[in-house]
Amino acid sequence: MQSELRKKLLDAFTNNEAEYLSGQHLADIIGCSRTAVWKHIEELRKDGFELEAVRRKGYKIIKIPERVTADEVRLGLPTKVLGRDIHYEETVDSTQKIAHRLANEDAPEGTIIIAEEQLLGRGRMDRRWHSPKYTGIWMSVILRPNIPPPKAPQLTLITAVAVVQAIEDFTGLSPQIKWPNDILINGKKVTGILTELQADADRITSIIIGIGINVNQKVEEYPEDLRAIATSLSIECDKKLQRADLIKLILQKLEQLYFLYLEKGFYPIKLLWESYAISIGKYITARTITGSIHGKALGITEDGVLKVEDDSGKVHHIYSADIEL
Ligand code: BTN
Repeated sequence: MQSELRKKLLDAFTNNEAEYLSGQHLADIIGCSRTAVWKHIEELRKDGFELEAVRRKGYKIIKIPERVTADEVRLGLPTKVLGRDIHYEETVDSTQKIAHRLANEDAPEGTIIIAEEQLLGRGRMDRRWHSPKYTGIWMSVILRPNIPPPKAPQLTLITAVAVVQAIEDFTGLSPQIKWPNDILINGKKVTGILTELQADADRITSIIIGIGINVNQKVEEYPEDLRAIATSLSIECDKKLQRADLIKLILQKLEQLYFLYLEKGFYPIKLLWESYAISIGKYITARTITGSIHGKALGITEDGVLKVEDDSGKVHHIYSADIEL
């Protein structure tokens, strides 16, 4: 976890991006001594930040480190709740596992866990999620909405819309959503979302949203069996991308949509989700654990359940399945 002083220091640079900040001014804003400011500036330097120091003017950050760090995500983060507490890890089994532990320890809503690498990344339906080092965004977000447990899948759909909007703005690509939570570009999967719950009988205590985005992988880095079905943003837009900037944008979009949802309910999200959905109006096969249903995807219900109409006109409600187009 970042120290409070370091957080305040980075917030001060965020709020005064274009200016030099003197040691005294920083000490006043942060509420510490000039020596403490100097010590923290030196620590930022050790962690790969480049700071320019100009006599009688002060300090300015001119370069941030190449790796994703909690500091880099915090610097310039425009959110009120999401990402205000950041746990950054180099290597973990799964960020979901850490998020569950932190949620049990009363971590505040909006706490995020980011890892550079996951050894046992979890996907939907007990699958593995390939999470190699330094190339992707492997992140879990803790939310604590006051909603009944059956409404939890709505959070998956909110997240999918947020990630699509962030990728669109960040890369100019046009991602689409395959129900419930796959984000595809040119028909290949670029993002997966895994929503897990902690709940009492009638109340959610926390929702852990896991977001996995393939950002900078090259084709040759993918295992053979994944090449035909998975891609990365870098492959699709042909350039290397700054992961920390994309994380910030995702947190910003997710917070906007989450607040909209808490205020106005699911309906506005449903409309947005349907506008990005690849399968609506198309014939699909939904493979559920009890069998396959073939038919036309009509849309989603208020609870985020997929409606599929088979050839006899019967409408099926699909809660969990793999979809084939
Ligand atoms: C899917 O099967 O499509 C969902 C994949 C979700 C992967 C993310 S990566 C961050 C978080 N930690 C995990 O172990 N899984 C999720």
